[in-house]
Amino acid sequence: MCGIFGYVGQPTEVGPMVLGALKQLEYRGYDSWGVATRDGGRVAVEKQTGKIGTATVTLPTSPIGFGHTRWATHGGVTDANAHPHLDESGRLAVIHNGIIENFRELRDELVARGHQFRSDTDTEVVVHLVEEGIAGGQSLVDATRKTFARLHGLNAIIVMDVTQNELVAVKTISPLIVGLGRGANYVASDTTALVEYTRDVVYLEDNQVAVLRPDEVILLDLHTGAPLPLRRERVDWDAGDMGLGGYPDFMSKEMAEQGRVVRQVATGYTEYARALSDTIWESYGTFLVGCGTASYAALTGSYLFSRIARRHVNAVLGSEFKYQEHFLTNRSLALALSQSGETADIIEAMVTSRARGAKIGALVNVRGSTLDRMADLSIPLGAGPEQCVLSTKAYIAKLAILTLTAHTLAGTPEIARDILLRAADALDRFLAEGGSARVRAVAEQIAGADHLYVIGRGLNYPTALEAALKIKEVSYVHAEGFAAGELKHGVIALLTAGTPCLVFAPIDETRADILSGAMEMKSRGGLIIGISPLHDPVFDLHLPVADVGDASPIVNALPAQLLGYHLAKLRGYDPDKPRNLAKSVTVK
Ligand code: F6R
Repeated sequence: MCGIFGYVGQPTEVGPMVLGALKQLEYRGYDSWGVATRDGGRVAVEKQTGKIGTATVTLPTSPIGFGHTRWATHGGVTDANAHPHLDESGRLAVIHNGIIENFRELRDELVARGHQFRSDTDTEVVVHLVEEGIAGGQSLVDATRKTFARLHGLNAIIVMDVTQNELVAVKTISPLIVGLGRGANYVASDTTALVEYTRDVVYLEDNQVAVLRPDEVILLDLHTGAPLPLRRERVDWDAGDMGLGGYPDFMSKEMAEQGRVVRQVATGYTEYARALSDTIWESYGTFLVGCGTASYAALTGSYLFSRIARRHVNAVLGSEFKYQEHFLTNRSLALALSQSGETADIIEAMVTSRARGAKIGALVNVRGSTLDRMADLSIPLGAGPEQCVLSTKAYIAKLAILTLTAHTLAGTPEIARDILLRAADALDRFLAEGGSARVRAVAEQIAGADHLYVIGRGLNYPTALEAALKIKEVSYVHAEGFAAGELKHGVIALLTAGTPCLVFAPIDETRADILSGAMEMKSRGGLIIGISPLHDPVFDLHLPVADVGDASPIVNALPAQLLGYHLAKLRGYDPDKPRNLAKSVTVK
């Protein structure tokens, strides 16, 4: 989380330039933002809490500058805690992404030596340590190297010294990409912020230090300071369509694109599915690893591979992987599922897997991301840029790819193509035939609810979990998903008269049992909202969806996404940037 962008080159209107780049990086965090440039021999800063919106900066023209969008970890959301943070002389500034796990002891040490802190952040220790190093005769590069070597955790920092027109960047796991320009160089936490200026980039590796000056970039080893070769790469892809395309927000746009995404997998992913199914076939133990929405795609995958390909695959949460890694061998496959390709818990899981000799696979949306680059087999989700903080179309793309792969493994890819094409058409038809208005009408009836429960079974048990996540994260209605069979084991105690209950009832072997669970909820006063191809008397409200066989999780997701969306709109919230969240979760 946190977006970083830096520039060093010819004097220019660097403030607006950095602010423009930060807008593109704002999906990484929008608690506060800040920009620093040079004003004579001192750093000039503007920073404030909240989203950038229509904010402008009035910083002086400068040959150097950088900026940061923050997702708060240490220290509240205040102007003082917004980055950049400055040293006491006002000559140095730092921006940071990550968590400095040992910041307390470093801070105590610095305070004992007389440093005065102006923020509650972990970040500020960096600038004081660098300041000490320089005061002790070290160069900016050496002081930054030595400081970074003392930090524990997954971090990326950029230090600026305005008296030298020099930026020093270094990272562990958290991404930093250097952009090589003519008479100017750049550094950012995401390639998309660089391509406006240059397509020649260097992906910084862990334990490498980049020194950026107007006319050169030098790479050094973190520990020895020895020079390292610069591996220049060319970005030959475009970020894709970043506009709203006439939609009121990105969530609406991205939900509407889901039919296209599924059709693309059905018609164009034969080779990818074969490569992945071969890899799964050859492995002894496959682990699908994801966080949040991606973890529910992984869990759906475990059901798909079981029922379609008679193959056991494990679904593991990225953050729990290290507690279950004991079965990993050099015959295992760890398959990362990730929209951003930057989720810290998943990257850590893949690093562990690699260390045990396992093969690494990835289903990733963002090209050039850390997971995309580290995987032995990386399959693009092909969903195009997902800019709403909620994951919708990337989730659907993962489900479609896993469905096709399971059928490919079973030797029946034509069945997958058939159900995926039917699902793609059904998604488009749902929206074209007034599905969104029908869901809005349901949302209007339940907009005042404090709690909402979702049940599913089998293939649609993960759909229930995902539906609840989608609803709660965007509308702030407390929503919980359950396996319907668990109702009687305690969950039913939560029901009171009128509580909305979302029920997934596809036409498969789960139908009779799920409807009887719905009846039990209704008997306790629950308002039953059925998402199902067929009506049933137990439903108080019915949202019809197409019957698409084992692609049911794909068509069932859309009404749940829409329910979250309309609840958010009715309650007055921004669906694209819910509070406290960020699109790319680069801290553990
Ligand atoms: C929910 C959501 C998150 C992400 C999770 C993993 O709508 O977007 O739960 O799915 O943070 O992110 P990626 O897929 O980028 O690894």
